[in-house]
Amino acid sequence: PDTVEIHNGHISHIGGCSLKELASKYGTPLYIYDAVTFAWNYRYLHDLLADTYPGNFDIAYASKAYLSLPFARKLANLETSIDVASISELEIVLKAGIPPCRIHLHGNNKSEAEIHKAIDLQIESIVVDSLDELHFVEEISRKMNRIPAIWLRITPDITVDTHKAVQTGHSASKFGIPVGNGEAEEAIKLGLSSDAVRLTGLHTHLGSQLFDSDRYSEAINILFNLCHKTDWQPEIISPGGGWGVPYTTGSPDTDPSDWIVAISHTVQNCCEKYQIKLPKIIIEPGRWLVAKAGVSIYSVGSTKSLPTGEWIAAVDGGMSDNPRPALYDAHYSAVVIGNSADRPVVPTRLVGRFCESGDELIHQIDLPRLERGDIVAIPVSGAYQLSMSSNYNLADRPCVLWLDNGKVEVMQKREKASQSNWWLGE
Ligand code: LLP
Repeated sequence: PDTVEIHNGHISHIGGCSLKELASKYGTPLYIYDAVTFAWNYRYLHDLLADTYPGNFDIAYASKAYLSLPFARKLANLETSIDVASISELEIVLKAGIPPCRIHLHGNNKSEAEIHKAIDLQIESIVVDSLDELHFVEEISRKMNRIPAIWLRITPDITVDTHKAVQTGHSASKFGIPVGNGEAEEAIKLGLSSDAVRLTGLHTHLGSQLFDSDRYSEAINILFNLCHKTDWQPEIISPGGGWGVPYTTGSPDTDPSDWIVAISHTVQNCCEKYQIKLPKIIIEPGRWLVAKAGVSIYSVGSTKSLPTGEWIAAVDGGMSDNPRPALYDAHYSAVVIGNSADRPVVPTRLVGRFCESGDELIHQIDLPRLERGDIVAIPVSGAYQLSMSSNYNLADRPCVLWLDNGKVEVMQKREKASQSNWWLGE
């Protein structure tokens, strides 16, 4: 259930709190994560897997979607696994108490320091991204006299229907070991015969904001075909993350049961076909777990009308806290907090306060005519906004709250960019 209550297009409460009161107490731009929605999302995926897959499984949250130390502590309590893609993400999740055996490390160009740390900590796996990296990991582990567990990330040559910037499974992708030129098989053979790494699984990630479960089935078939060709029974199969969420009101809600059922059944079918034991399935959702749990809240400042009849309303945030419209032409909906029933509804462009024309949150939406001082909320703001936020124009990154059934916790205080050591050159 969504605990963001929307009545006739107006959000009034989230997690039992008044958004207007929160905005006035903590200021805007303000980001809010709702504990109930997040916990429900996690439980839903967990139960779907438990109901459809007879083998072991794990949910590894893709921390690039949103991470902070207080949030990582919630994840530690949930006992989720976690996917990190940098040494800083790794350090934060360790600090939060997530054990190394539940962490795997991604990246198409991991540094020596990252690989060294991952080996030293004995994390669950280093997800090796290329033949070159396989040799690099072996070289480092030999020096350390250790044998780390690795998975190989395979690029199955599957092009998915999503924005080009977040497609990763096609043959020309910078990620993973391609199947088309024999490198995938070669890497498996090398990994299996290596005395410096222990190959435990295969991974693939097709892209992000996907809704076609058949593509996951195709990818899993390709992974098992590789295992068959190399006469190998993998301990782990990870079909990555990527299941999408509806961002705008009116777009169809695409339930992740299609996704989970496709993964679970395809893995079982492959194991039956090749007469091998069921591996552990590890899925890596990011967006699906956090996007809908987050809401961004802004105050309206300047407004103006255009000769085209459009109404422009500028808010106090924009591309610094949400670069997704500028980067991916991402679409959002917005609602006005409080009563605006007596206003005419006008075609509105919701823009940010930063110095470029690409700084728009919503290119066009019909809204009650906004005025200075109004508060607007943008639902489905929990994924890849704060994690990709910047200090453009030396913006202070927003305050972030965690709301748990009416209880408010400040997870991240509003930043003061002009006092940050980095900008001060200290
Ligand atoms: N696993 C791997 C290896 C990934 O690279 C990603 C996302 C995920 C899992 C999680 O994907 P998700 O379930 O969140 O779709 N900044 C873009 C999204 C980039 C996704 C990068 N990789 C956006 O704002 O749409």
